[in-house]
Amino acid sequence: MKFFIDTADLDEIRECASWGALSGVTTNPSLYAKTGGKLADFEGHMVKICEICEGLPVSAESTATTTEGMVEEGRRLAALAPNIVVKLPICAESLAACRTLASEGIKVNMTLIFSVPQALLAARAGARYVSPFVGRYDDIAEDGVERVADIVAAIGNYDFGWWNEEGGVEIIAASLRTPNHVTQMALIGADIATVPYAALKKCLTHPLTVNGLASFEADWKKVTAEA
Ligand code: G3P
Repeated sequence: MKFFIDTADLDEIRECASWGALSGVTTNPSLYAKTGGKLADFEGHMVKICEICEGLPVSAESTATTTEGMVEEGRRLAALAPNIVVKLPICAESLAACRTLASEGIKVNMTLIFSVPQALLAARAGARYVSPFVGRYDDIAEDGVERVADIVAAIGNYDFGWWNEEGGVEIIAASLRTPNHVTQMALIGADIATVPYAALKKCLTHPLTVNGLASFEADWKKVTAEA
């Protein structure tokens, strides 16, 4: 499973990219708003993310509401950097826009996916990525892990490799809030986990690692004191 970071914060992206284990970035309008960014700076901000993560896919979301608007905005976003992926929320208009953009070689990440049929329709329209949400299911007292497991299984039943040279559609498990969500996504075989900064930091640590390191350091002090 690949790790993406789910943020538009440049410092968070820089830090996590420096670990050497990051495979991409996802953003959305809420995450950009959280940075305090203004509309006029949006495209420049996306370019900065693309430069930090050169060669890695960076999802930038269109806020257009018509097929024509999504295609136009998608083309403009895709022209910002070679690693831009155009993110579209699933609906009839975005399916049509996805097909047009995909046929032009522009990668689309279809987001706000909550069901198997939505995921299959997005893949059929040529989406390079589909993003089902886990945490928002948990928020309404449903089992987000189970719902996304269904989507992983259903997409895996079919070959979408005909759409692109990279082997078809990949599932980005989104709306992940905890290391356990990440574990569960790996166990069900999601291709990618897009994880917010705070949860990604938690994935890096474990109390037994902290204790183990403290005892290694204490014992090494004894060795160096005797030298
Ligand atoms: O990538 C989608 C994600 O940002 C949504 O997360 O926690 O707002 O449900 P959340």
